[in-house]
Amino acid sequence: MQEIIQKLEEKRDQARQGGGQRRIDTQHKKGKLTARERIGVFLDPDSFDEWDMFVGHRCTDFGMDEQVVPGDGVITGHGTINGKLVFVFSQDFTVFGGSLSEAHAEKICKVMDQAMKVGAPVIGLNDSGGARIQEGVASLAGYAEVFQRNVMASGVVPQISMIMGPCAGGAVYSPAMTDFIFMVRDTSYMFVTGPDVVKTVTHEEVTHEELGGASTHTATSGVADRAFENDMEALLYLRRFVDFLPANNREKPPVRETTDPWDRVEMSLDSLIPDNPNKPYDMKELIAKMVDEDDFFEIQPDYAANIVVGFGRIEGHTVGIVANQPMVLAGCLDISSSIKGARFVRFCDCFNIPIVTLVDVPGFMPGTTQEYGGIIKHGAKLLFAFAEATVPKVTLITRKAYGGAYDVMSSKHLRGDLNLAWPSAEIAVMGPKGAVEIIFREDIGDEEKIEQRTEEYRERFANPFIAGHRGYIDDVIMPHNTRMRVARGLRMLRNKKLDNPWKKHANIPL
Ligand code: HXC
Repeated sequence: MQEIIQKLEEKRDQARQGGGQRRIDTQHKKGKLTARERIGVFLDPDSFDEWDMFVGHRCTDFGMDEQVVPGDGVITGHGTINGKLVFVFSQDFTVFGGSLSEAHAEKICKVMDQAMKVGAPVIGLNDSGGARIQEGVASLAGYAEVFQRNVMASGVVPQISMIMGPCAGGAVYSPAMTDFIFMVRDTSYMFVTGPDVVKTVTHEEVTHEELGGASTHTATSGVADRAFENDMEALLYLRRFVDFLPANNREKPPVRETTDPWDRVEMSLDSLIPDNPNKPYDMKELIAKMVDEDDFFEIQPDYAANIVVGFGRIEGHTVGIVANQPMVLAGCLDISSSIKGARFVRFCDCFNIPIVTLVDVPGFMPGTTQEYGGIIKHGAKLLFAFAEATVPKVTLITRKAYGGAYDVMSSKHLRGDLNLAWPSAEIAVMGPKGAVEIIFREDIGDEEKIEQRTEEYRERFANPFIAGHRGYIDDVIMPHNTRMRVARGLRMLRNKKLDNPWKKHANIPL
């Protein structure tokens, strides 16, 4: 027996060596942790149960039968984060560059299938050169198997991708179908084809970083949701992030103990809105003061910053926050912010996370760039997402809610459950000046008259009371009571039940 145990240990040791010490050293020299070290940091200590440690690839071409590494470049299994079950796969770049073989794909599929059956999140720590080139179509088939499972799991269990190395080809399409993509600065890249292929096809000269680095994807393409400085920081943030989420679509979001009083009064909010309606203020200040313990996990902070989205907690319960940001483009909705907001709203709706919407929006962004880019279709995504959502929806209008953007931002008419406004709210078809210049076109040129009419319009329409009179706003509240009123609203909505009519699936304007 002793001998057999010894053999098992030897086999395990061999698997733990991955692609060998030289490649492990190279990984470390790049500032990266190994696939196993990453799992060690990410999961609760001693909680990881590894599966398929002895699986090897089946390729015999190109001398591959001489190079079989147990585990085949991906470490899979399950463990816990603060006691909650999660399934993990961590690709090992030291084994054929973390590339995906048929066997490697089967290992990933196995944890995905099990995660679906038991209702637990799947987290991928991605570090892969894409399809294992030596395996040809077998590896493409492997990718397609993973893709199919990504789609089946979408909206059933949360799927999160942490990109921790160069990811090319198939290695980016699976993450693209997960709910969130995070990256590590300077050591992770995502592209469909690398710089060499780009040069051949389009004659563009571009570095790895420019083409698919963390800055590119968090600020320009919007493919990634957030970037972190190094592996360690990324994994610790990922633990914090997972804590906000329910395990599956049948569960309510987790509740965490908090010492922050639910009825905390924030007098400073009474002076958040500047006297001048054209002056911006930072909506994130309101978010920070509204959520528990100032703890807000922002998604896509560097992309389409005219809308702010992310997770916080109120009375310990997770909420999704969607907020216009007057500091950027005056908080206008444009193509990128509509897509960003819509995707976030749909995630919250999939996973029973109530949505708190903070509104200060002067409208949709005008101009040829937006129209040619399809703002009609993309803006409709956000409208569609809010209208389709059946989770509790609490909306607060702090200042402007003009035109179509008023409708879109979780208005009463889109089944908003609780629609509140600050006294500074201006709910109208458009801003006073624009309105006057259309209704009183004949007065244009007469500055004094226009000024007077604008003032009259502001006095008459730029307030929350006309909407309040019709019941579109349930109450006008004091800013300092915001947290208390939102908390009470969410409490009232805890057992909300609302179903959309039966359908195969809706047809959101893609
Ligand atoms: C097999 C691979 C590999 C791959 C890397 N390696 N990618 N082996 N299949 N796809 C191996 C290398 O041979 C090398 O082996 C080791 O991994 C490390 O690779 P390096 O090139 O030395 O590392 P680095 O300089 O950091 O560059 C990493 C890289 C580059 C950017 C990922 O390796 C690369 O461009 N690889 C090819 C990417 C690609 O074209 N993939 C196929 C995409 S097509 P040794 O033995 O030296 O350690 C695809 C189709 C699916 O994925 C499409 C579905 C929609």
